[in-house]
Amino acid sequence: MYILGMESSCDETSVAVVEMADAPDGTPAQRTIKSNIVASQIETHRLYGGVVPEIASRAHIEAISRITKEALNEAGLTLGQIDAIAATTHPGLIGALLVGVNFAKSLAYANRIPLISVNHIHGHVAAAYLTEPMLMPPYLAVVVSGGHTSLYLVEDYTTFHEIGATRDDAAGEAFDKVGRVIGMPYPGGAALDKLAYEGDPKAFPLPSPAVQGDNLDFSFSGLKTAALNIINSASQKGETISRADLAASYTQAIVQGIVKKTDQALTAAAKGVDTLVLAGGVAANSHIRSALSRLCERRGIRFVVPERGLCGDNAAMIAAAGYFEYQKGNFADTSLNASASDYV
Ligand code: KG4
Ligand code: ZN
Repeated sequence: MYILGMESSCDETSVAVVEMADAPDGTPAQRTIKSNIVASQIETHRLYGGVVPEIASRAHIEAISRITKEALNEAGLTLGQIDAIAATTHPGLIGALLVGVNFAKSLAYANRIPLISVNHIHGHVAAAYLTEPMLMPPYLAVVVSGGHTSLYLVEDYTTFHEIGATRDDAAGEAFDKVGRVIGMPYPGGAALDKLAYEGDPKAFPLPSPAVQGDNLDFSFSGLKTAALNIINSASQKGETISRADLAASYTQAIVQGIVKKTDQALTAAAKGVDTLVLAGGVAANSHIRSALSRLCERRGIRFVVPERGLCGDNAAMIAAAGYFEYQKGNFADTSLNASASDYV
């Protein structure tokens, strides 16, 4: 079955075609990306040090029609061969989401193609099926992105139970904020990832983003403020600090916090969970990937993380998640709307 996916929740316009199928007993039979076109607006938003929602919406409008043609051409398919259109409806920037949702609705209506609503976070997790085709629920998923840092028990392909989440900022926001203050181009996450290898992770003691106690929550605001205080007090004294040491210490605090709560969640989930999935834009971070890989090795469970190119926002992951909604018969109609929040 061919699914056309559309993603426009933030600063990437993406359209993709995936081919998905399962054997009659439910075993995965096909997980193939036929095309996955991503038009990034990062260069535009870089001028402002962050995403400007109105500019993002306009850029999606300018790109979406061309990108859709490109995705179909690269897949070697016509719209007549597409079995369903899946669009990200939530969460995200409302104006940006509405572009993809309305384009998908029009395309589906005009061509009599079934329409599917996809949760962006479920999409991030579905990227794992495209890298590891034999992956099947149940498993524990840790989603780290620009807007989320959450732990989910994924019961089946479309049933997610959130068992922990950040109480304030997300890991991606925390990386980007400090990246910006130390002069990295937006978004700073990827640059900090590299810089952290050149510094001493013990140089600056920083608070953990793992919330103390018997819960599975995170809080990045204290860590972020502590890092900013180090930078500001050094600059007030006219001192310079090693950016690499700060990047290494900050990264270590984030990595250790995520490992701690993931380990706790694996203990809490225990029975029936023999796989950990790491997903979201921040899942591209090499320090987090290797620390969670080591944790899984220590616990004797399987570790699955999408290949780096599928961690950031893309439409192949949305199409993959859409396939499972299709299998459940979860179709949308032309009343479909977008929502900025986690729930429609
Ligand atoms: O999932 P995503 O593409 O967008 C949202 O749904 O939020 O995540 C974007 C976030 C940004 O904060 C970006 O800095 C971060 O992912 N990111 C990274 C790395 N690559 C992207 N953070 C840390 N290390 C990286 N290598
Ligand atoms: Zn995302």
